[in-house]
Amino acid sequence: MATEKNIIFSPLTIKKHTFHNRIGVAPMTRMSSGPDSIPRKDVFDFLVRRAEKGASLIYTEAMVTDYESAQGYPGQSRITSQQQIDTWKKVTDAIRKHNGISMMQFFHCGRMAYDGINPANRAIAPSAIAPSQDNPLTGEPYPQPEAMSRFDIDHAINGFVESAKGAVAAGFDGIEIHGAHGYLINQFLSTYSNTRQDGYGGPVENRFRLASEIIRAVKAVIPEEMLLFFRISNWGIADMEVSLFADASEWQEMITLLNKEPIDAISVSTYDFQVAAFDTDLTMTQLTRKATDLPLLICGKIYDHHTAELALEDADLVLSAKSILLNPDFVDDLRNKKELKPFESEEANRAYTDEPLP
Ligand SMILES: Cc1cc2nc3c(=O)[nH]c(=O)nc-3n(C[C@H](O)[C@H](O)[C@H](O)COP(=O)(O)O)c2cc1C
Repeated sequence: MATEKNIIFSPLTIKKHTFHNRIGVAPMTRMSSGPDSIPRKDVFDFLVRRAEKGASLIYTEAMVTDYESAQGYPGQSRITSQQQIDTWKKVTDAIRKHNGISMMQFFHCGRMAYDGINPANRAIAPSAIAPSQDNPLTGEPYPQPEAMSRFDIDHAINGFVESAKGAVAAGFDGIEIHGAHGYLINQFLSTYSNTRQDGYGGPVENRFRLASEIIRAVKAVIPEEMLLFFRISNWGIADMEVSLFADASEWQEMITLLNKEPIDAISVSTYDFQVAAFDTDLTMTQLTRKATDLPLLICGKIYDHHTAELALEDADLVLSAKSILLNPDFVDDLRNKKELKPFESEEANRAYTDEPLP
């Protein structure tokens, strides 16, 4: 019986990095930065405190990879200036002091942009197709994106490279390329948003090309021992009901391609890790596990000891977003097998306000 096990409090080693348990703080955008693209102090305090309170893995929010078209939300952070690097360095040092492993997540929003939020004031995407739904934060339609040119593709890749260098300088143990949730890389992976006729569109290998180019370009500028993870999902923040991959075999083809890349783990993002995926009897983690031997991270409604142990039957690390955001004692509560309930998304909305966390 899964509940009789206690895998969650066993260590895991990837490369030279030992996670002292299997619980991580999921990446969470907090939209607290000013024009300097540096988050408010309470965001840093939150990350350090969660390491202090027992999480072995601490993700940053998704950082924006360039100053041209990459930003998707107000108040997002970046890691390419000395001031940004110096500020994050204090955070990675503090996380390390608490025996935590720090991961910088970074993204390009692609077509999930706001009018006027980026200096270039233009939204770019694999193809000139906007999401169907309105932007929930503005109530307005998403801007019509332009199909990315060769320059745009190279510029986007370079944004990941420059931010990766920033993460190295800031002392992060690892970095994660955000290929999930309907943002730029995910837009390339899916025929829902990618109808290109060139080498970046059409067959799975072509749609995967940008992801591969970003992974390899980033890998070339980070130390060998630095962790490199890739996050992927079958759903996007806009048009959430759409399955971004046609079926289980297309998903597994993508995972098989990822498996050949120089990455150290795959993070699978779901709403609920227990739900059967596509039209199979298997969960996303189980389907993913069949296509790769890489360590797997899973996220989505893991809210107590039982769900964490269940998730760890098929994955190696579990991530929590809402539960660990809203409950500072989450790790202790798991240790004590306390009865806990999942939180609703609305309860996490205060992460988007100016109110410091308690
Ligand atoms: C406030 C908030 C911000 C988030 N920001 C990000 C993000 O920057 N990058 C990312 O990959 N996922 C982000 N997510 C998704 C979470 O990482 C996670 O996949 C999702 O909330 C499901 O996990 P949960 O059921 O434990 O909340 C965010 C979630 C929340 C609640």
